[in-house]
Amino acid sequence: MAAKVEDQLPDGITALDNQGGGHMFNAKKGMVGIMLDSDGRLLKPVCPDASVQEEDDEVRFYEKIANSADPVDRELAGLAPKYFGTRTVTVGEREVLCMKVENFTRGFRHACVLDIKVGRVTSIPTAPEHKRKHEASKYTGTRHTVGFSVPGMTVFDVSRGAVTQHGKEFGKGLNGDTVADAFRAFLNAPCGARVRPICDSLITQLESIHSWFSRQRKYQFFASSILLTYDAAGLLPGCGSPVLAAARPAARMIDFAHAWPAAGAADANYLEGLQHVLRLVRLVRETLPPA
Ligand SMILES: Nc1ncnc2c1ncn2[C@@H]1O[C@H](COP(=O)(O)OP(=O)(O)OP(=O)(O)O)[C@@H](O)[C@H]1O
Ligand SMILES: [Mg+2]
Repeated sequence: MAAKVEDQLPDGITALDNQGGGHMFNAKKGMVGIMLDSDGRLLKPVCPDASVQEEDDEVRFYEKIANSADPVDRELAGLAPKYFGTRTVTVGEREVLCMKVENFTRGFRHACVLDIKVGRVTSIPTAPEHKRKHEASKYTGTRHTVGFSVPGMTVFDVSRGAVTQHGKEFGKGLNGDTVADAFRAFLNAPCGARVRPICDSLITQLESIHSWFSRQRKYQFFASSILLTYDAAGLLPGCGSPVLAAARPAARMIDFAHAWPAAGAADANYLEGLQHVLRLVRLVRETLPPA
């Protein structure tokens, strides 16, 4: 059996244990997942799979945004993780180039992470026909109904005191109706009124993303995600501090490997999915059971 990739990380670097979606550590494929640096920030491999050569498009995008004086880019930078440049990590025999970014789950005890890949269309306009067809055939249950997919979700269920990491198959099984149950489970809706401040905060942050998207005419994003995170420790009985301070909810944009010039048009593909995300979080908020 191949040695676990996680066991080949240098001192001070660990595997992120609450990863929602994306490329995970995989010994068979020699795949490197998202890592935690010793300072608590994240290290995301530019090329997770050694056998698939990928471009450093996301690095270039982050650098461009970080160095831009354009107000559209300045505002976008505030809706995405802070960027701290690149760093090479030696994993076994491999030198893995990584981007270093802000970790929204830093210091969390019971991280809840929902990765929402936004848009019906997730391949770039110049992708070959067979690739576009293949992409379009995935996650149709939610893409065709709510304009997004759920590639992964990590939930700490407060009522059971246990964590569940849902992978791709979970998201592929969802449809336009059951996706609402996934949002309810993610937000620990059975905790009732205590969940409300978390929903309120996520809604406000999603509205900021929506506001930027409804004005900007510069980019179209394909296969980009909205990441919802909070610490369910804030919902535990006897937590001691106010829910919001302990739960630290965030709704941010991640995954910019496929940004495209929008040539003056709004990104309708992204806006459709984003509007449904907002609707679903509002729905959970409005239907919270009495505590
Ligand atoms: N800034 C962040 N803070 C906390 N967690 C993050 C952050 N960025 C990424 N993650 C975690 O890593 C996962 C994968 O991230 P991301 O989508 O950027 O990687 P990926 O491997 O490129 O995915 P894909 O397969 O979609 O290309 C997310 O679902 C989330 O769990
Ligand atoms: Mg992703």
